[in-house]
Amino acid sequence: MPGRVEWAAMDLTERPRRLRRTAALRRLARETRLDAAGLVAPLFVQAGSGIRTSIDALPGHRRWSPDTVGEEAERLQALGVGALILFGIPESKDATGTSGWDPEGPVPQGLRRIREATSDLVLMADVCLCEYTNHGHCGVLDSSGRDVDNDPTLTLLGREAVVYADAGADIVAPSAMMDGQVAALREALDTEGFQHTAILAYSAKSASAFYGPFRDAAGSTPGEGDRRGYQMDAANRREALREAALDLAEGADAVMVKPAGPYLDLIRDIADVVDVPVAAYQVSGEYAMLHAAANAGALDLDAAAYESLLGIRRAGARWILTYFADRAAEALQTGRWE
Ligand code: PBG
Repeated sequence: MPGRVEWAAMDLTERPRRLRRTAALRRLARETRLDAAGLVAPLFVQAGSGIRTSIDALPGHRRWSPDTVGEEAERLQALGVGALILFGIPESKDATGTSGWDPEGPVPQGLRRIREATSDLVLMADVCLCEYTNHGHCGVLDSSGRDVDNDPTLTLLGREAVVYADAGADIVAPSAMMDGQVAALREALDTEGFQHTAILAYSAKSASAFYGPFRDAAGSTPGEGDRRGYQMDAANRREALREAALDLAEGADAVMVKPAGPYLDLIRDIADVVDVPVAAYQVSGEYAMLHAAANAGALDLDAAAYESLLGIRRAGARWILTYFADRAAEALQTGRWE
């Protein structure tokens, strides 16, 4: 193929620096760009009113209540952010996560409020039980009390998705890593008349050390045990392709890799073979890590945030869920990032 690298016959007179000489040349030669429309901002919605509580583990982020979250959504819309994804912090938790499918829960209320306040944002809702169960696992426990029971959990996730769709979610995003969760959601949505509601599958979601700040923010750390029995083993690459293929066969409209930065190879593998949009979630720990390093004087936060997002996009992610969404959108809007 002309122009492609032929390792054995490199022309040693080539001068790649010619296209790096000026900012204008670099801009012209740039292969990857970020756009605000592809950014998805995570929002935490807590039951109650008048809440705007800072989250220590996630600098710059707050927990909102349904009555205050509209102002944050308006701010993000004005910056050009493409979408929001909502997580809930309920008033009460129980063994089966009942508050997760309460139509008056924080997420459905927040969705309705944001719909009133904004007109140009895609609204996503995370579908999982860990924020709503008193044991903090992503589904209901079996009789041993140690394992998450897959199939009974599917029914509950389906109920939760229908409630979020009914409250105005354009896209529901199952993140419990139960087998068959996409098919269960599709069927529940179709049965209830939500054929138009799309599913973004957390396909390759690894059991990761990088979720720590999120679990602080959402109060969803498992009481006992961990999530290794359902989230993917961090070592696996082929399994990620299998998970994505299964989710597509079950009816997913888009697939996700999570976390993003340490898993760029999985993003690339999946982006190379699927036709649907590929999303990647730059998770709470990735964000907190860059803030901590910047606070320690080790790096420039803005430049590091840009580079981290660019890497995720370069790996093949079309949509990026990131706690940097507001900063990135502002930087793109003002031309600080190009
Ligand atoms: C729910 C869920 C989690 C995250 C997104 N959805 C927590 C978890 O699996 O423990 C983590 C997001 C982040 O760390 O930013 N299951």
